[in-house]
Amino acid sequence: MDAFGDRLVEMFNQASLGLMVSIGYRTGLFDTMKNREPSTSEEIAIAAKLSERYVREWLGAMTTGGIVESEDGESFHLPATHAAMLTEDGEGECLAHLTQYFGLMGGVEDKIVACFREGGGVPYSEFPRFHEVMADDSRQSVVSTLVEHILPLSPGLTMALKNGIRVLDVGCGRGYALRLMAKEFPESEFVGYDLSEEAISFATELARKEGLENISFEQRDLSSFNEDAPPSAFDLITAFDAIHDQARPDYVLAGIRKALKRDGVFLMQDIGADSNIAANKDHPIGPLLYTISCMHCMTVSLAQGGLGVGAMWGEQLTLEFLGKAGFQNVQRRNLDHDIQNYYYIARPAA
Ligand SMILES: C[S@@+](CC[C@H](N)C(=O)[O-])C[C@H]1O[C@@H](n2cnc3c(N)ncnc32)[C@H](O)[C@@H]1O
Repeated sequence: MDAFGDRLVEMFNQASLGLMVSIGYRTGLFDTMKNREPSTSEEIAIAAKLSERYVREWLGAMTTGGIVESEDGESFHLPATHAAMLTEDGEGECLAHLTQYFGLMGGVEDKIVACFREGGGVPYSEFPRFHEVMADDSRQSVVSTLVEHILPLSPGLTMALKNGIRVLDVGCGRGYALRLMAKEFPESEFVGYDLSEEAISFATELARKEGLENISFEQRDLSSFNEDAPPSAFDLITAFDAIHDQARPDYVLAGIRKALKRDGVFLMQDIGADSNIAANKDHPIGPLLYTISCMHCMTVSLAQGGLGVGAMWGEQLTLEFLGKAGFQNVQRRNLDHDIQNYYYIARPAA
């Protein structure tokens, strides 16, 4: 009992720090403190252009939580090793952006509690910052490794992209992965579909500013993609973290199969897990992923009248869905640095 009590107390502290790290990331406090000599709350607040009273209280949480150092409670210092994981300057792997999911989920807690009682789901419109947070996540997890690690998972794919093929990204969000490919492979043509008008406008505007002419984005509900997919239109279809939270992953996958040429390839990144809950007990981020699933991925699907398979639908169910959609050759791959995802390389022909 004592050990479990200690664990709960530790959980209170870590959960609270999760929220405060998100605030530090969003307000630029970590960027301000990086490479800075020990400074007072006043000096840090002025440099960050923030209210000193709030900054001082935040420093209280950061210092007692062991993220910021202070000997005298007057001057504060962010160690370089911590700064490397809390800021985005390309020098280290930033993880701080992921804490934004806690505030996002906290914002809908009342509605999720109501769903526990009455069923149904919480729609995307209740998550106003979702696409911004997702794009931060995508830039760090997909875009940073796309060309070097993810595309080579399918042999010959990089060469085909260099030579020129037609590519569709399903559930493209703000389009960071697709825009990178469009820049990297000017001979290929890229199309992105997503339900969100806000995400599609954002992606279109950025592509226009970047002067990309081989890319287009279309706002589109893929819930009936099995029926309205353009037949044999693409050589490569990608889906980054975008199948499990669809209303109808089964229909979307059937549509992808239909839209793919017979010798095409579907590259699908989705959450790496087992379909059995107990088999995920040693998953390094199991509780995090089931929570994000319950309070976002599963509920947005249910809100569309969908299946709500959830982020942790797991490998077995994913393979079953891919098989039923008509993919006869599916390989599951991993990347060493990625503890969150599996990569499925699926082809129509055996
Ligand atoms: C977890 S996000 C991933 C976004 C993007 N691929 C990325 O990695 O940043 C899932 C995406 O699926 C889209 N989506 C959900 N339901 C959809 C539907 N019925 N039709 C089309 N897109 C949908 C969402 O708008 C969202 O952008």
